[in-house]
Amino acid sequence: MHCARVLALIVLLVGLVHSFSWDIVVAGNKQLEFLHHGTLTHTELTPSVNRITSVTYDAVHYRLLFTDYNSSTVSIYSYDLSTRNIQVLVTRTSDSIPRVVYDPVTQAVYWKDGYRLYSSSLNPASSNKPDGNLLVTFDDYCRDLAVDSCGGYIYWITDEEIERARLDGSEREVLITGTVYYRLSLAIDQQTQAIYWTQKTHSGDDHCSIEKANFNGKNRTTLYIVRNTRYAFSLAVSKDFIYWQNYKEEGIWQLPKNKTSTATKLHSTSSSYCETCNRVATNYTIEEQIEGVKSCHALQALISRESNNGSTVSICQNYCFQGECSVSAEGPTCSCKTGYSGERCEVNACHDYCLHGGVCSLNEENKRVCQCTAGYDGERCDVSICYEYCLQGNCSVGADGLPKCSCEAGYSGERCEVNACHDYCLHGGVCSLTEENKRVCQCTAGYDGERCDVSICNEYCLQGNCSVDADGLPKCSCTTGYSGVRCEENACHKYCLNGGICSLNKEDEPACQCTAGYNGGRCEISANKDSSCDAGNSGQGTISACHQFCLNNGVCSLNEASEPVCQCTADYEGERCEVSVNKDLCCPKVTTVTVTLSQGGQSTCASTVV
Ligand SMILES: *[C@@H]1O[C@H](CO)[C@@H](O)[C@H](O)[C@H]1NC(C)=O
Ligand SMILES: *[C@@H]1O[C@H](CO)[C@@H](O)[C@H](O)[C@H]1NC(C)=O
Ligand SMILES: *[C@@H]1O[C@H](CO)[C@@H](O)[C@H](O)[C@H]1NC(C)=O
Ligand SMILES: *[C@@H]1O[C@H](CO)[C@@H](O)[C@H](O)[C@H]1NC(C)=O
Ligand SMILES: *[C@@H]1O[C@H](CO)[C@@H](O)[C@H](O)[C@H]1NC(C)=O
Ligand SMILES: *[C@@H]1O[C@H](CO)[C@@H](O)[C@H](O)[C@H]1NC(C)=O
Ligand SMILES: *[C@@H]1O[C@H](CO)[C@@H](O)[C@H](O)[C@H]1NC(C)=O
Repeated sequence: MHCARVLALIVLLVGLVHSFSWDIVVAGNKQLEFLHHGTLTHTELTPSVNRITSVTYDAVHYRLLFTDYNSSTVSIYSYDLSTRNIQVLVTRTSDSIPRVVYDPVTQAVYWKDGYRLYSSSLNPASSNKPDGNLLVTFDDYCRDLAVDSCGGYIYWITDEEIERARLDGSEREVLITGTVYYRLSLAIDQQTQAIYWTQKTHSGDDHCSIEKANFNGKNRTTLYIVRNTRYAFSLAVSKDFIYWQNYKEEGIWQLPKNKTSTATKLHSTSSSYCETCNRVATNYTIEEQIEGVKSCHALQALISRESNNGSTVSICQNYCFQGECSVSAEGPTCSCKTGYSGERCEVNACHDYCLHGGVCSLNEENKRVCQCTAGYDGERCDVSICYEYCLQGNCSVGADGLPKCSCEAGYSGERCEVNACHDYCLHGGVCSLTEENKRVCQCTAGYDGERCDVSICNEYCLQGNCSVDADGLPKCSCTTGYSGVRCEENACHKYCLNGGICSLNKEDEPACQCTAGYNGGRCEISANKDSSCDAGNSGQGTISACHQFCLNNGVCSLNEASEPVCQCTADYEGERCEVSVNKDLCCPKVTTVTVTLSQGGQSTCASTVV
């Protein structure tokens, strides 16, 4: 419907239906109480409503909007002051105190439960999510809202902060910070270009204060100290006054905006107290709100629409922030410049799009494109070029804008992709790093060397096959004719005595070919022996040192120093096999021969028989 016609209708109905005037309306639990100069002029009962928690005035459509709360459901109602018709606008399940404010420019209600801000358009032409559009999720419990229709901002208040955002939830910013005992109530005034709020700074006393600051949170002042109250809430502003509800001094109080030294008590309400409710709304007309205010084109346009005859210039003047304005029966409409949207082209598509300092622009298809700062990549510059770049190490962005890795110990390569230990130790050896970052191998049995590259069998057995035993040590299996731990001994080695020549027989046993004058298996017997040494006699002659040296069938041979050495049978031991192993044998017969050798094979011998 054409707004001018609505207004005409309203004026007509006001004349007919309403004989009462009002400056402020105070919500009770189930009623709306209208006051004029501090006197109750009208009470509207709202029987279907459980408990009103907030109320606000839509000065364009001459209606009140209020919220209801019954512990499981929140609802937003409208009360048309002309027809006295009450209508439900939104209902949803929530267990938090709701609050509603109205913006005549976007023709939308903005409302909150505890931690979320929603909007719902009341323009019959626009489609809505029935549950509202979620705009902002608060960090802390939100107590109150206020809307700045000129600037296009929604403000909210918590104990920790006062914040604002664009009416689409973007450009969120903190205005007042610093945690206080509580902050309850919030109001906005175009005429003084200020935000007002109530707060209790400390828990220690019963004083609250009315605070004021510019829209941007600057130039903050304390306007008035409310003494002896637990809570000061339901803050509202009109042309001349600031209103609030006092918890202890029951009732509504007013403070002149231009003389903040004295407050006056107005009225005792019938409502039960609810310190997080805002139950006062004022009859503050749009003309009054923007009187003398230069920069409020949005509200100006609303008034012009009603009061002039549709002149495009006046309605459209400064209406669209980033676009062309045209006028239809519904009022001004914006056709936004590329990259902007919103009813008044107030939403910049590039806003907050590119992250980490990236610069946003629109391409030929009107798509947002980011030019990222060094170190970032991705459609929205949301990906650090360091992301998953270094496989085993820390990443940093170099002066050239490229990622640089600082590798963990044991890794190398541009992306720390090379493991120093990889394939380093051979034959199953286990690699580790020393404190100096040197690679060390712990080899499996049978291998040795810095990288376990050397078999312990390598060149170990001189004449035979090598294998690794259970202890990991090399073990030789010698070829025939060799012996010794490393098969280093030839069976012929030093076998034949007195110059005899050794060779292996068919059974691979050593056999001697003796020089003249010697015989015996190992050429140990001299043919020129002196028999005088035989039967216990002493004498002189040339004999083998082995001659009769080993007793009891011991086998004699000469060592490297040509000294006789005995290999005894199992039953005897001793240097000459003269001692019986079997101690039980009584009185073995022993022939003791003492041979003294001189150079040239001359010997002296002496033998005794025991
Ligand atoms: C609302 O305030 C305006 C301006 O002060 C006044 O003209 C109008 O009569 C008031 N409305 C009612 C219903 O009292
Ligand atoms: C709250 O209100 C809703 C909607 O009016 C109703 O369905 C529900 O039963 C009410 N709950 C309580 C606890 O009163
Ligand atoms: C700051 O506040 C003081 C006191 O309310 C006022 O006189 C002054 O004009 C304000 N300054 C600005 C820049 O708003
Ligand atoms: C305050 O405003 C009222 C109403 O506009 C006016 O009558 C009064 O003279 C003003 N007082 C001061 C101190 O400016
Ligand atoms: C309305 O505008 C038309 C043309 O734009 C003009 O002729 C007419 O005089 C205006 N009417 C009033 C009441 O200003
Ligand atoms: C990687 O960064 C961590 C934390 O700053 C540091 O403790 C560590 O020493 C760094 N490692 C390398 C290889 O630079
Ligand atoms: C050594 O190994 C070879 C090859 O396996 C084998 O033919 C030979 O009999 C082995 N020799 C000994 C002494 O074990």
